[in-house]
Amino acid sequence: MRPDPEQPGGLHPLLAERFSPYRFDPSAAVDDRALGLLLEAARWAPSAGNSQPWGFFAGRPGEPEHERMVPYLAPSSAQWARDAGLLVVTLARRHVDDTELQYSEFADYDLGQAMAHMTVQAQAMGLAAHQFRAFDMEGLTKELDPNPGWVIVSMIALGRAAGEPPVGRERRSVADLLSAPWAPSA
Ligand SMILES: Cc1cc2nc3c(=O)[nH]c(=O)nc-3n(C[C@H](O)[C@H](O)[C@H](O)COP(=O)(O)O)c2cc1C
Repeated sequence: MRPDPEQPGGLHPLLAERFSPYRFDPSAAVDDRALGLLLEAARWAPSAGNSQPWGFFAGRPGEPEHERMVPYLAPSSAQWARDAGLLVVTLARRHVDDTELQYSEFADYDLGQAMAHMTVQAQAMGLAAHQFRAFDMEGLTKELDPNPGWVIVSMIALGRAAGEPPVGRERRSVADLLSAPWAPSA
């Protein structure tokens, strides 16, 4: 791992070394076991009331599911996502059963946690992940036609990263995380 003066020692390497690649090795397949573990990692994420409001559509190059997703990639994401060993569409179920609530305020939050689990599991298996919104949401929704209550939220490309991590990845400081939401004290 490259030394980074901004990076406090002690951050777990799975977190410190993760990055969203803009190149994937097209020859690196994601096998059935790896696919199963990525979904298993998402399955074990925490969620509000254990509602587990996430769902997925997954496909690997050569599979019919993959062929259904690729046409809806935006020109920007198509440059790298189609080379990844696995493409996943993520969905949230915002509807809440057996209550008056039409909408769970936590559905997307919970899906995000499931995706963080999947991303870290990928990193632990030597794979990289790049989540993205650069796709035709309307077209893909028509194509996949999810059940009522389910909405497509994002896509994620997973596979073996090709090339080096980008230099100069930027993050806000910890001090800013703690101060930005609040008015300066007088
Ligand atoms: C919900 C979400 C949507 C994103 N959409 C895109 C996208 O459309 N195109 C893209 O290149 N990257 C996209 N990204 C990746 C972010 O740009 C990336 O995570 C961020 O710049 C930090 O870089 P890092 O993941 O390498 O640390 C998205 C990430 C998330 C979590």
